[in-house]
Amino acid sequence: MLRTVVCVSGGGTNLQAILDAVDNGTITNTEIVAVISNNPGAKALERAANHNIPGICMSPKDYADRETFNEAFTQKMCELAPDLIVLAGFLVKIPEQMTAKFSGKIVNIHPSLIPAFCGVGYYGLKVHEEALKRGVKVTGATVHFVNEGMDEGPIIAQKAVMVEDNDTPEILQRRVMEQAEWILLPKAIDDIANNRLILKDGHVYQA
Ligand code: GRF
Repeated sequence: MLRTVVCVSGGGTNLQAILDAVDNGTITNTEIVAVISNNPGAKALERAANHNIPGICMSPKDYADRETFNEAFTQKMCELAPDLIVLAGFLVKIPEQMTAKFSGKIVNIHPSLIPAFCGVGYYGLKVHEEALKRGVKVTGATVHFVNEGMDEGPIIAQKAVMVEDNDTPEILQRRVMEQAEWILLPKAIDDIANNRLILKDGHVYQA
């Protein structure tokens, strides 16, 4: 069983897609052992509780400085000893000591076709606002491994989603979630759990 920890900050619809996929057998060989949120009010924590999954709240705000938080966060992760860490809308930058300790074991979902609309400052609705501002006709979502950069790790999977006339950021965000994120992320977890992905020389191959 792939011991998996999911990190969240908000609504947790991607977490829900993962939990549903484990329940209905779309994801196999995987156990969600904990959900970590930096936000005590995250609806994602309710979703975890509804599934009897331990929810842990750890926010940089509760620590003297970022370095102290980074150490505590990495320490907690080491105690949980996951085979995979899934960032599902997690708004805290992963400390370098964690990316080093869990190299090749952290994945993130990003709501655009990387390398478009990604990096520092591109999170949540902002991504979709920028896509609409630029007038792109196609956007999408990307699942990638996490390294010390921001949205820079090896790409696992991408799915395109059409932009439509009169889209608002909210409408586009919902379409990207429905047509791409909630499909891509569970599939990537299942592929990892069943050894169907190979990470070699910074590139991901399907076994
Ligand atoms: C998603 O759009 C995800 O791609 C991004 O943050 C959002 C989180 O949404 N990283 P939710 O909390 O899973 O509903």
